[in-house]
Amino acid sequence: GRTAVVIPAAGRGVRLGPGTPKALRELGGVPMLVHAVRATARARAVALVVVVGPPDGTAEVRHLLDEHGLEAVEVVPGGETRQDSVRLGLDALPADIDAVLVHDAARPLVPADTVDAVATAVREGAPAVVPALPVADTVKEVEPRGDGAAEPVTGTPDRSRLRAVQTPQGFARKVLAEAHARVAREGEGATDDAGMVERIGVEVVVVPGHEEAFKVTRPLDLVLAEAVLARRRA
Ligand code: CTP
Ligand code: MG
Repeated sequence: GRTAVVIPAAGRGVRLGPGTPKALRELGGVPMLVHAVRATARARAVALVVVVGPPDGTAEVRHLLDEHGLEAVEVVPGGETRQDSVRLGLDALPADIDAVLVHDAARPLVPADTVDAVATAVREGAPAVVPALPVADTVKEVEPRGDGAAEPVTGTPDRSRLRAVQTPQGFARKVLAEAHARVAREGEGATDDAGMVERIGVEVVVVPGHEEAFKVTRPLDLVLAEAVLARRRA
């Protein structure tokens, strides 16, 4: 079988602020989505890339990929949530795909080596693989208030056992499809794809992530991304 990449890019980017949908915002003059497609398509194992675009913006995404010489990349419309978008991307894969990497368009600068490491681990038989880094900050659990009031701390997990997870996350196709189908049926959710796989009781393993695979979420992340690009080009 072959390996495909699904790139969820249908989010609005609310935390980045008003303007163009996040995946279409430019870094170094090139849309974030184009960086993300190139970064994953470069990996040796990857045979096919499917981009999941905003439901009302697939024509624009198609045009933009063509402009950057990425005619071979397929585009499908996404959904309300990231989870819906990933499921729609999975549904669009041809039958001979047996391994899938899911990569956020919002992580445009992931190094090729990280993509290769995840793809290799899956091809070697791991059902679910996530790249992750140790956590720099101490993390507290709180009783959420949400109204700006002081929140009581309920615990401090041992930091040495925590990891911050990134993408691409890699899966045996059957495992991820089953997780998405079952979790959707039960009306539940998870904040990443590996979390859904954990819910169906399949083992997930962590491989080393990379600092440059950070997610562009808030305006400051754009400043960092531009600086990383400038350093690469120097
Ligand atoms: N995503 C998606 N479909 C959605 C929501 C998110 O495909 N309905 C994608 C985003 O385009 C992004 C990735 O999932 O590439 C990670 O999500 P996130 O960083 O949260 O992006 P947004 O949802 O766009 O940002 P925000 O949450 O700030 O609105
Ligand atoms: Mg989001």
